[in-house]
Amino acid sequence: MADEDRRRFLKVATCAIGGGVGLAVAGPVLTLLADPAGKTTVTTPTTPLDLGPAEQFRAGAEPHRVDVVAPIIKDGWTAARDVVLGAAWVRRTAPDKLVALSAVCPHLGCAIGWDAIAGNFLCPCHDSRFSVAGEKLNGPSERGMDELPLEVRDGRLLLTWVRYKTGQSRREPG
Ligand code: FES
Repeated sequence: MADEDRRRFLKVATCAIGGGVGLAVAGPVLTLLADPAGKTTVTTPTTPLDLGPAEQFRAGAEPHRVDVVAPIIKDGWTAARDVVLGAAWVRRTAPDKLVALSAVCPHLGCAIGWDAIAGNFLCPCHDSRFSVAGEKLNGPSERGMDELPLEVRDGRLLLTWVRYKTGQSRREPG
């Protein structure tokens, strides 16, 4: 075989092997990258979350803060367990009525706390105050605290987490 033919053969063989390796690697990588595209993206669970026995909330007691934890949150790429979404203040207002208020301040989203001395809610960031029922008393917040959907099923308290837009008077899911 002449030198010229040998060089041509080696050139073609190198290109063929390189192309084959490239295709072998690209196939799985492209499949992996495209895989989440067909899956549902979940940012916040819309199913009710179990806050425990409803009887733990007694009539006449102060609001009780509960962490709102999603057992699992999935998106196209990842799955995370026990994700803290936020917190809620729960209170029994009558023997058969429970109310949950989001602890997310409607002003700019800080965590609202209970001021046991004043008997109302206080956001420490800019001093917005809210009554025990969640109505705005004073401060820069443009609306009262956001009530969250709540139900009792088989003695368990189930809460649906909703994150509302902050910084506006209208209550709108964010
Ligand atoms: S974030 Fe609550 S008062 Fe500003």
